[in-house]
Amino acid sequence: MMRRQLHWCVALVLLAAAPAALGRHSREVKKGGRGGAVEELANEMHMPRFAESIPNITVTIGKDAVLACVVDNLKNYKVAWVRVDTQTILSIHHNVITQNPRISLSHNDHRSWYLHINDVHEADRGWYMCQINTDPMRSRVGYVQVVVPPSIIDKETSSDMVVRENSNVSMACKAEGYPEPYIMWRREDGEDINYNGNEVSVVDGELLYITRVSRLHMGAYLCIASNGVPPSISKRVLLRVQFPPMLTIPNQLEGAYMGQDVVLECHTEAYPSSINYWTTERGDMIVSGDKYEAVSTDDGYKKYMMLKIRNISRKDFGSYKCVAKNSLGETDGLIKLDEIPVPSTTSTTSTTSQPASAGGKKRGRSKHSKQRHKHNEVVGAANKDFTTNRWDRGESNWDDMGQDENPDIPSEGLAMEDDCAWSRGAPLLLASSCLLVLWFQ
Ligand SMILES: *[C@@H]1O[C@H](CO)[C@@H](O)[C@H](O)[C@H]1NC(C)=O
Ligand SMILES: *[C@@H]1O[C@H](CO)[C@@H](O)[C@H](O)[C@H]1NC(C)=O
Ligand SMILES: *[C@@H]1O[C@H](CO)[C@@H](O)[C@H](O)[C@H]1NC(C)=O
Repeated sequence: MMRRQLHWCVALVLLAAAPAALGRHSREVKKGGRGGAVEELANEMHMPRFAESIPNITVTIGKDAVLACVVDNLKNYKVAWVRVDTQTILSIHHNVITQNPRISLSHNDHRSWYLHINDVHEADRGWYMCQINTDPMRSRVGYVQVVVPPSIIDKETSSDMVVRENSNVSMACKAEGYPEPYIMWRREDGEDINYNGNEVSVVDGELLYITRVSRLHMGAYLCIASNGVPPSISKRVLLRVQFPPMLTIPNQLEGAYMGQDVVLECHTEAYPSSINYWTTERGDMIVSGDKYEAVSTDDGYKKYMMLKIRNISRKDFGSYKCVAKNSLGETDGLIKLDEIPVPSTTSTTSTTSQPASAGGKKRGRSKHSKQRHKHNEVVGAANKDFTTNRWDRGESNWDDMGQDENPDIPSEGLAMEDDCAWSRGAPLLLASSCLLVLWFQ
């Protein structure tokens, strides 16, 4: 019962499909006569037909591909697989014809015919045809797309480079793959790249061309190639920018009193990394020991140099030099250490271990800072930032200072204390404008 119903169904579907599928054919036959057409149609129903089109497949190189050809009503006809572009017969019926060992065949119920391509090569890309040996021959085609993940072409890609600052730098990156890979550059550390005036996170294209390269460009760059076929790939190119040493000194004039410890500081930049050291006025190199502690810390091409002189005695006053040398040059900077009177207050004499120039970073400094301040004021504009930096933090010192003595002291603290204080005892007009302000607030 069930089986009969199924047969009917199939027959109905075939009848419905036949006129559309055979439109061209039946029209041609019409000329021959009505009887011929009917006969042809009946004949057609017994002919093999493709149950479905051959789907296009996309396969990554090295993987396996399978093409399926499903034929209904094959009967004694045979199925062959043909490579269209080369007109090569790959298989006929149950036999593989091609010599290509990567091609094999499988079938299912005399209905589904599978062409297997193992370890797909790029050369396998193209059209494949499933043929039935009817007369005329019937066929369907399907496309095998072979995609290739990107790979970097090393010999056409820049390797690590060393350049002089202010030169023009060109870094190239070439990649292959299918489809053609898209290439971009970015910094490994994720920082933006100053790309000819613009801060950009990514530079598109094979070429990274930097005009007038600066030390800020120094770092590792990644050239990344991708084409939608995983995995994407990258190559790391290290860019080193050479320049002679440069030096900055926060305080060129330091004051200290006898018995104090003092810290002198220097900042340098150089690439290749410089050799840094301190000398005395006479040019003798200073070595760390009981008296001196010379510390240098690196941060990339930057160095921070610190010289601590313990228990200052009279012979320690004078000049000190910080020196930085690399293969491209040498520079030095002078720091003068002057004597200041020993503070009179008892509370401060005990703080002898306090480094003079580190004072601003600490709280609760007292009298001797004030003296340093006055002392540095003599130096003028160069140390301006020193004085203001110290003083806007030195809350405890504020009261000690006469305002006329320091007319440029930041007045933030005062102003914030009482916004309308100035109007006290002033004419009513002023007082009311103050009220007005308060009202609108
Ligand atoms: C297969 O791909 C070709 C183009 O490569 C396209 O013209 C055709 O319609 C596709 N066939 C199927 C079944 O997707
Ligand atoms: C670097 O490039 C700029 C702009 O393209 C050019 O003016 C300059 O001459 C170049 N410098 C060198 C050293 O090639
Ligand atoms: C500091 O030096 C003086 C001599 O200049 C010495 O008498 C004193 O003990 C030293 N103080 C310290 C803490 O080393």
